[in-house]
Amino acid sequence: MNMNKPHGGLLVNRVDQNYKIDYKNKQVKLDRIALSDLELLAIGAYSPLTGFMDEGNYQSVVQSIRLTNGLPWSIPITLPVDSDTSNTIKIGETVNLVHDYTVYGIMTVTDIFSPDKNEEAKKIYQTNDPKHPGVRKLLERPDTYMGGPIKMINYPIKDKFEEYFLEPAQTRETFKQLGWETVVGFQTRNPVHRAHEYIQKSALETIDGLFLHPLVGETKTGDIPSELRMECYQILLQNYYPKHRVHLSVFPAAMRYAGPKEAIFHALVRKNYGCTHFIVGRDHAGVGDYYGTYDAQKIFREFSEEEVGINILCFENSYYCNKCESMGTSKTCPHDKEFHVSLSGTKVRAMLREGKMPPKQFTRPEVATKLMEGMSKTQIETRHGS
Ligand code: ADX
Repeated sequence: MNMNKPHGGLLVNRVDQNYKIDYKNKQVKLDRIALSDLELLAIGAYSPLTGFMDEGNYQSVVQSIRLTNGLPWSIPITLPVDSDTSNTIKIGETVNLVHDYTVYGIMTVTDIFSPDKNEEAKKIYQTNDPKHPGVRKLLERPDTYMGGPIKMINYPIKDKFEEYFLEPAQTRETFKQLGWETVVGFQTRNPVHRAHEYIQKSALETIDGLFLHPLVGETKTGDIPSELRMECYQILLQNYYPKHRVHLSVFPAAMRYAGPKEAIFHALVRKNYGCTHFIVGRDHAGVGDYYGTYDAQKIFREFSEEEVGINILCFENSYYCNKCESMGTSKTCPHDKEFHVSLSGTKVRAMLREGKMPPKQFTRPEVATKLMEGMSKTQIETRHGS
């Protein structure tokens, strides 16, 4: 089986920077999530999707984790529009997709529909609790969805680490040039710590290359800003990773915090970027206590390997063991919890805020120092290691 094909077989490309914008078209406003989705659709990260979901695909994804053509897909990619706008638009019309007075794309409207958001929340997030950050966002966004194929005319502005925004076609080419036949993708939204490093390097023992792909789109209040997370990665890459076996670029998507459903989405998207393998550790894309520790691994059992088309590398909860004097998991370390260095996110946050170094078995001192500096600058809440 060729594990390197885009989802659905072909890499979508819907970027058309020469498109002549018709300013007489009606305008539909994009929020930051929709703008990032427009870009990810256009560059093929969401292949085989070619636009915001129509009602059929939306219902199919919510109810059965599949597109109408049967391919697995787990997160609705929707364009919420307020009803004052949607009421003026007819099916078949081409609308301009606008953010901050700039037209970023166009969409030919095929569907306008009212979703059952309570159902969407329960199916996708497994809760309709408005305290869940993904559910809160879902409920805050407008109540009518519009679907149809898109084109992107202008790229969203990259005001930070521009050179790290690579498109799937570019990462695929990079992996080819590096001679990697197998590539393991790593999704992350938290600052890198020892457990991350351990599972990444464990994968690198058997896979040709590591694709570090931190998510840099919208995250919840309290998560560490992407600039600071990227600085931590740069420190690690300069000092502790073999340069020719790691590639770092960024994933401009919004975080959904949808646990298992988001794990599938994260894996399929990394397949589009050219990965053959994808890491799913403990509580992947989780938040609070909404998901079981390994639910995001178990959900892959509902699909055949062929239809997912990317190998999932599952990792147990990893920690430093004082008795082993090394990193490990319950699979490799026989010692009791009392020997494990494991700190709650709250504890690490408090330590960093007070200017206390977390143990070096938990976070490398260079990374902890960078985080402390960054936190004292912005006084942000972190979720480090939680
Ligand atoms: S996530 O929301 O992007 O999943 P995070 O950046 O913390 O959050 O995790 C990145 C990846 O590392 C995920 O696959 C997660 O399951 C895994 N992971 C994080 N911490 C650990 C740990 N201590 N042990 C095993 N896997 C972990």
